[in-house]
Amino acid sequence: MTRLSESHLWKNLREFYEKEGVKAWSSDRLPFFATNNPALAKTYVDLLIAYLEDCRDAEQLDPTQTVTIVELGGGMGRMAYLMLTRLKEMQDRLPCPVKYLLTDYGKSNVEYYKSHEKFAPFFQNGTLEVSQFDAEGPDRLQFDSTNPVFVIANYLFDSLSQDGFKIHDGVLSEISCYLDDKKELRFEATPASDTPYGIKAYDKVLQNYRNVLGNTHIPFPIGPLKCMDSLSESANGRLALVMADKALRSKEELLDFTSLPLQKHDRGFSMSVNCHAMDEVWGQDGGLSFHSAPRTNHLNLAVYCKGLRRDECRRTEHTFRDQVDGFGPLDYLDFRAQIMASVKNKSLRLYLQLLRLSRWDAELFYELSNQLGDAALGAPMNEQQELYEIMTRCWGNFFPIPDERDVPFAVARVLACINQFHQAIGFYGESRRIYGDRCLTLHNIGICQFNLGQLEQAVASFKEALKLDPQYGPSKELLLRTEAEARRQSSLTP
Ligand SMILES: C[S@@+](CC[C@H](N)C(=O)[O-])C[C@H]1O[C@@H](n2cnc3c(N)ncnc32)[C@H](O)[C@@H]1O
Repeated sequence: MTRLSESHLWKNLREFYEKEGVKAWSSDRLPFFATNNPALAKTYVDLLIAYLEDCRDAEQLDPTQTVTIVELGGGMGRMAYLMLTRLKEMQDRLPCPVKYLLTDYGKSNVEYYKSHEKFAPFFQNGTLEVSQFDAEGPDRLQFDSTNPVFVIANYLFDSLSQDGFKIHDGVLSEISCYLDDKKELRFEATPASDTPYGIKAYDKVLQNYRNVLGNTHIPFPIGPLKCMDSLSESANGRLALVMADKALRSKEELLDFTSLPLQKHDRGFSMSVNCHAMDEVWGQDGGLSFHSAPRTNHLNLAVYCKGLRRDECRRTEHTFRDQVDGFGPLDYLDFRAQIMASVKNKSLRLYLQLLRLSRWDAELFYELSNQLGDAALGAPMNEQQELYEIMTRCWGNFFPIPDERDVPFAVARVLACINQFHQAIGFYGESRRIYGDRCLTLHNIGICQFNLGQLEQAVASFKEALKLDPQYGPSKELLLRTEAEARRQSSLTP
């Protein structure tokens, strides 16, 4: 019988991330859109600025020294790239220099960060460092103690180890697990002592649950709590942590569970994070926490802050309420999903508005590219210019991972629809460089060359396309037409 946090459940999850590396995100097995998009990066950077200004006003910031932004469990690294891009845009608004420390437990993820061409300029100018770091391991991060620290933890805490407790008729029991003869996971509750952890702050929360909650099961976020304790110590008790995760935020949300709220998926298990317990522990030590207002969206955004009194934290709180409770990254996710469900045959204007709302998301651009191309064909010049400007900004947010979402191909296709054939050929070239040669890419290059009157090159491209897919009808047809056109042109010379 094993305490839940020490069971193989979490070890399996770690092994999954370690083994899969960035491939875990390549085939849509892991949800990533919600926590890797420019709308969230904008909100996080605004929160960072507000927090640093609060620190400056409370004389907790030396503006000549660098503040470290640490991302824990950075996954594929796209959020870090979007943050760095946004930070560069907002450089003039930052009250002090910043550097980004991107970390993950997985060695292969860290190797991937080191080799990613989009990170190269940030390594070169010294704004990015990467490190392998276990968020609940014994090692501590080392920070320069002059300034506070800003931490990002998206979809991480639900991957860290958790314990489970049961309350029945005022009795607190701890849930342990074991594998039965058929290797099925079984849980068993045994009465807990008054001090299950021997750590006053944690035990106090559990005692309170036993006293006030009815019959229920509660996850206890031991891994996240240890992680926050360790960060707090490394940062000398002066830090802000922003997080996005599935969460239980109030005592009410902890009621009536007939078993632990474990969710099974192909990478193992995860469990909504008991943020209420985190708030309670954090609060005992003078920490503050803000959570997104309740929504149907399962995702919770939160800021945990330590080292400032509430009256010193006004800008951070106001920015959070304004950006997260008003129409913010969470609403954007739902809104986007609803529009995407019936996205066909809408106006170019609506597509452009949606891209602006996304803060120029390259992923969304990719998903909308067929509609954008169709709507842009024959659109007035000013709308085409607007599209061009938006496309440029979306391209700036593109961070490739080894998946099928060929954004340069999508950009090239839209450029071709607005008759920018030279540039489209350049982007098809980028698509070939990153995603390899595909019949359709070479075929489309041939079409651009045909439109530019480069008939010889077009013939060569259609032939290349047919080498990759000898049965591709459109290339066969255009090859014949282009050869015929070339013959016609060569027979009529002045
Ligand atoms: C669900 S993914 C989230 C990734 C990214 N933050 C996002 O939102 O897309 C969890 C990430 O945390 C990492 N991870 C899991 N356990 C960890 C630990 N103990 N310390 C640091 N990273 C960990 C995994 O390698 C994985 O990259």
